[in-house]
Amino acid sequence: MSEPIKWVKKDPSRENVYWPNDAMKKRAWISDPAIYEKALADPVAFWAKHAEELHWFKKWDKPYEFAPHAFKWFVGGKTNLSYNSLDRHVKAGHGDRVALIWEPEPAAEKAQKITYNELLRRVSKFANVLKSLGVRKGDRVGIYLPMIPEAVVAMQACARIGAPHSVVFSAFSPESLRDRMVDAGAKVLITADGYWRRGKGIELKKSADVGVDGTKIEKVIVVRRLDGTCPMKAGRDVWYHDVMATAKEECAPEPMESEDISFILYTSGSTAKPKGIFHTTGGYAVQSYLTAKWNFDLHEGDIYWCTADVGWVTGHTYINYGTLMNGVTSVIYEGSPDTPDFGRMWAIIEKHKITQLYTAPTAIRMFVKWGNEWPEKHDLSSLRLLGTVGEPINLDAWLWYFDKIGGGRCPIIDTWWQTETGANMVNNLPGIGPFIPTVAGRAFPGIQGDVLDAGGTPVAVGEGGYLSIYEPFPPALTRGIWGDMERFKAQYFGDYGPKRYYTSDGARKDDMGNFRITGRVDDVMNVAGHRLATAEVESALAQNEKVSEVAVVSKPHDLKGEVPVAFVLLKAGMAPSDETRKELIKTVDQVIGPTARPEEIIFVEDVPKTRSGKIMRRILKALVRGEPIGDTTTLMNPDSVNALKKAVEHKG
Ligand code: WTA
Repeated sequence: MSEPIKWVKKDPSRENVYWPNDAMKKRAWISDPAIYEKALADPVAFWAKHAEELHWFKKWDKPYEFAPHAFKWFVGGKTNLSYNSLDRHVKAGHGDRVALIWEPEPAAEKAQKITYNELLRRVSKFANVLKSLGVRKGDRVGIYLPMIPEAVVAMQACARIGAPHSVVFSAFSPESLRDRMVDAGAKVLITADGYWRRGKGIELKKSADVGVDGTKIEKVIVVRRLDGTCPMKAGRDVWYHDVMATAKEECAPEPMESEDISFILYTSGSTAKPKGIFHTTGGYAVQSYLTAKWNFDLHEGDIYWCTADVGWVTGHTYINYGTLMNGVTSVIYEGSPDTPDFGRMWAIIEKHKITQLYTAPTAIRMFVKWGNEWPEKHDLSSLRLLGTVGEPINLDAWLWYFDKIGGGRCPIIDTWWQTETGANMVNNLPGIGPFIPTVAGRAFPGIQGDVLDAGGTPVAVGEGGYLSIYEPFPPALTRGIWGDMERFKAQYFGDYGPKRYYTSDGARKDDMGNFRITGRVDDVMNVAGHRLATAEVESALAQNEKVSEVAVVSKPHDLKGEVPVAFVLLKAGMAPSDETRKELIKTVDQVIGPTARPEEIIFVEDVPKTRSGKIMRRILKALVRGEPIGDTTTLMNPDSVNALKKAVEHKG
């Protein structure tokens, strides 16, 4: 158990500014703020120096190379993510350390502890299974798994043989799975018969079967998590435990070129079609490893819990790769935080003596709502550090997290980053601080960025603008969108040119160089920590045959951060009803998944349009938020606005 740390609470000149005390400064990897200047004097040398902490089969010839839309890190170097996550620790004599603790949802079921030795054994075996099914370096493998250890085994096995994985969130619908598998051209899928969620067995394999239809997937490997009674298609489906039983225990890791693709992860952009963000090997490894180490203060023996799902980038980097590369214990929980009761999170922390907790503001707001009595029932004194990610954290949630969960001892590391950036980009370091509610912090050492106006000029301190990251680009930044490099160039480098990455996030900076992220400036929502485009929800709803036209906008929500609100025009002869509403929700479930359900469906007769026929979502957004509507003179149908106001008041 860590000794209590009392925080120097307030900077007398400002409200709510917290600084690390001497004990934290002493323990942290980095406590001298000079690191920022040193790293920025030569970012390439900074990253190259820390890259040496990992294993390279062959050292790079050149640490960094820039060309517009085609920058490279550790050129000519060869490495492997799985080797660095597993073999490196085993070879150093640390094979007996626990790599994973898996907590099943049913409270009566025993937690599993998997050592680095054992994880390496399982990963090597599974890598051999994949090879025996014909998976070669460069082939894409789909992963549609719940929060079970096999999710990490599967990702690591892919990385071991150099087959880029594409993980699809298990609560996504079959159609979402299909779209992603088709786009990625995957030939093998790893899934499970099901999993436990809120005390119920969810039958995942049934969804997988529907999703695989119409793809190029030849083989489906099924992990048995429920009772194993799911349908299996002869010739296509195999049980994980069967193929593992006979697999060889050794599998040499593939020496990957630094710039080889490690994985593709689909995420929402501002259109209806999610984009396959791909990441490389060497650069991704280095930034994932170093940010995990410094930001979460990872030391030998730490038991660190990132509550994200493996289907999101946070799960990729901070459950799996970044964490395991640091040789600590990564905790995975299968189920829901309210099962069997609202105290489950805190029971898990107490039971496993968790030292660092990394979660999302939306979860924190939910815990606040559930009440203080739940965390108060448990001993949380093992915690040393807290992290948040996914959306701007509000003041109340921050203070509650700091006080009730961190006991006033633990710094809150508010990490801003994106699927595209692969790893943390903006946050303050535990040994340096400051920790300011609602303020993420400075760019990580070696990363430079600023808040710019639309024309690309840095704005003054305190002014709003767009967050941009400068070249030399951080090593883990995406190298492209799978199959659509034009979209990649336009989306990220269209605004400020090839040397400044456009994040799509609004921000302000303070006089200390800290960034306060104000949220997305495009049509991407953060719904309970899930990234989702309004256009995706629109396109899902439009698939219902009763729908004539639909516009979706986001609206702030106390718990979820943001929620979609749908304005729906029904086809002639279709009457609005609760029945139709339910049907529309079902359509969204089928096309995307329950995470995308609109909070409100408002039936309308008309939506405001420009003279060229484009829906003016700005007006709808103002209406649902109760904000001033602004200029309506450019509308083709200004009368629609009054009717809409009424509809919004009466919720359609
Ligand atoms: C938002 C998740 C404020 C932001 C890692 C970004 C945040 C989007 C923060 C990416 C934070 C993430 N403070 N906003 N600490 N972290 N965001 O791709 O809008 O699922 O663009 O990656 O989440 O979401 P994604």
